[in-house]
Amino acid sequence: MAVASPHVLNNSDALMTQNSPATDPWKVLLLENVHPDADGTLAHAGEVEIERLPKAADGDVLARALAGAHLLGIRSRTQVDRDLLDSAPELLAVGCFCIGTNQVDLDAAAERGIPVFNAPFANTRSVAELTLASMVMLMRGIPRKMQAIRAGEWLKSAEGSHEVRGKKLGILGYGNIGSQLSVLASGLGIHVYYYDHQPKLVHGNAREVGSLHELLELSDVVTLHVPSTAMTRRMIDAEALARMRRGSFLINHARGDLVDVDALSDALTSGHLAGAAIDVFPKEPKGAGEDFASDLTRFDNVILTPHIGGSTLEAQSAIGRDAALKLARYVSDGSTAHAVNFPEVEAGSLEPGRRRVACVHSNEPGFLSRLNEVFSAIGANVAAQHLQTRGKVGYAVADLEGELPDDLEAQLRSLEGTVRVRLLGPG
Ligand code: NAI
Repeated sequence: MAVASPHVLNNSDALMTQNSPATDPWKVLLLENVHPDADGTLAHAGEVEIERLPKAADGDVLARALAGAHLLGIRSRTQVDRDLLDSAPELLAVGCFCIGTNQVDLDAAAERGIPVFNAPFANTRSVAELTLASMVMLMRGIPRKMQAIRAGEWLKSAEGSHEVRGKKLGILGYGNIGSQLSVLASGLGIHVYYYDHQPKLVHGNAREVGSLHELLELSDVVTLHVPSTAMTRRMIDAEALARMRRGSFLINHARGDLVDVDALSDALTSGHLAGAAIDVFPKEPKGAGEDFASDLTRFDNVILTPHIGGSTLEAQSAIGRDAALKLARYVSDGSTAHAVNFPEVEAGSLEPGRRRVACVHSNEPGFLSRLNEVFSAIGANVAAQHLQTRGKVGYAVADLEGELPDDLEAQLRSLEGTVRVRLLGPG
């Protein structure tokens, strides 16, 4: 596999840390064509040497490329398992430049003191825009008219065509995408209703309904924006589809297993549903070389897209910057805010004259007092201190004032329960 030669970026304002001597840049390995906008953001960590592999890698190729790297950036295809983590003792953090993090063994990473970050909102807008566009296209009967005109047929008729203004959009899942869609749809004069199993901040004139059934029964268009969980899988089955209004539309831009596709085919065949827009499928090809098959391809009133709801250049750039900033902040100030597997500590920038101890430890009684005994024994003033725990892992961050002994890091490393220690700030 071709390896692009590493390039070095520098941001002289960033904090220097003892884990990366001033003369050595942070080593970053980025796979799977992470967007180039990540590079400038990573430089917030200080001097960085970035090596890129254009595709996913595994086995020895990946282990060799990762040797000596402090930060690893991947997208959805590279698998990061226990063995790989064990082969990379210098690895500080992993960035998933995507939404999902299933490709990383999150527990194994946390146990080794490695936070994992992702970019959960970076493609929210892209999905919301496509969903709104799909509603317009469905309600104007565009899929059928497009197919007809390509076959030389001129379907110039207003029959079955509607404006979206004044229609009822039912959003299942009022999270990042659902609520963003709500704002956009309201701007077009659409009446927005939503159902979410958690209390949510209502945007504009959107109205919450008390159950999925209620949502299905009142909406002209139902759109799904929930994750795939034991509760949501096949949530839209034959019974749910039967509850939808005759002549209404279904949009699924969330996850393929939320919908019983056979039941959806039946509802389209019978004319109970007037159409659908589907971007995600229970079984999706792994790549361009694999064929796609679905019963839904036979309907001319269905928009089918290859899981591209969040795939825009803007989203890729935003993902590059979002995940890179989380990695850079972890390196420079120890922040683990928004880590997916790790206790979240947001300690802020380090004030001049202080040094920061960032200590990952096993979450068992007594560690904090052992840590503070060391600080007390060396006569350091603890100017600020933060502690969070999650599962088996604890993360303690302390800002110290005063002269610190050269062997402080070694002392902390030898404490019972320490997994990893970093000393941040100019030594
Ligand atoms: P989110 O986590 O911000 O929102 C999900 C919402 O669903 C939350 O408000 C949650 O409370 C609600 N929810 C979960 N279980 C529920 C249940 N049983 N009943 C009612 N509400 C429930 O997620 P986000 O970012 O808005 O993403 C939504 C979906 O979109 C996910 O499935 C995600 O995988 C998918 N997605 C698809 C993309 C594509 O390319 N087509 C791109 C990005 C996300």
